[in-house]
Amino acid sequence: MTYHYPQLRRAITDDTRNGVLQDFPEISQIIDADIRDGVVEAWSQALCCSDFERITDIPPDGNPGAPVLKSGTQADHVRGVFRYTSIIAREFEQTYPQVNIDWTVLLAGAACHDVGKPYEFDPTNRKRWAEAPAAAGQPTFRHSVFGMYICLIAGLPEEVAHIAVGHSFEGNHMGVSAECMIVRQADHGWWHVAGALGLVEEQTMGGLASNLRSRSLSRSTPTRTGTA
Ligand SMILES: [Fe+2]
Repeated sequence: MTYHYPQLRRAITDDTRNGVLQDFPEISQIIDADIRDGVVEAWSQALCCSDFERITDIPPDGNPGAPVLKSGTQADHVRGVFRYTSIIAREFEQTYPQVNIDWTVLLAGAACHDVGKPYEFDPTNRKRWAEAPAAAGQPTFRHSVFGMYICLIAGLPEEVAHIAVGHSFEGNHMGVSAECMIVRQADHGWWHVAGALGLVEEQTMGGLASNLRSRSLSRSTPTRTGTA
């Protein structure tokens, strides 16, 4: 049996951190400096444990292979979910001022909900898992689970790691925090609206709602393979 250990494939440098902030500038909206730095460190750690140099190098899929966006990168998705999360929370806060939302946890959780994707999407890991699926699983960890690990080793609080692990299917098996529920709705809503508007490859939408129908795009857009 060969054992594998999640470890850095290259050193984390300021170039790594600057790349994270350039690809995901909304991170700067997190007011708490320690948490904000932790988010940058988490993404830097995740990238350097993979072959991906930048968030913009990661394919924009929900999971590897499904749902698949026709164009763009993972940065488009995570930035969209971050902004969508803010809109949902602000709407409720403005209409119901009596609600309590921890904005630091909310925004850090939104920023880190997919921080495990460099691991799950990494070509080297995926090749290893495909060659021997029963050896260590396929994948060994989904991005939500690996994201929780990354958040914790980056020094982020449990409340943020909880959002990483609870934003996806794993959250169906546990009670989730209010902030986690907002990020879940933003993430799932983002994918369903993207599917309805024709931004997702139709044959990869099986994991989305069965009543979803995809509208044609009105003008040609760049795709991974040409134009659509
Ligand atoms: Fe996501």
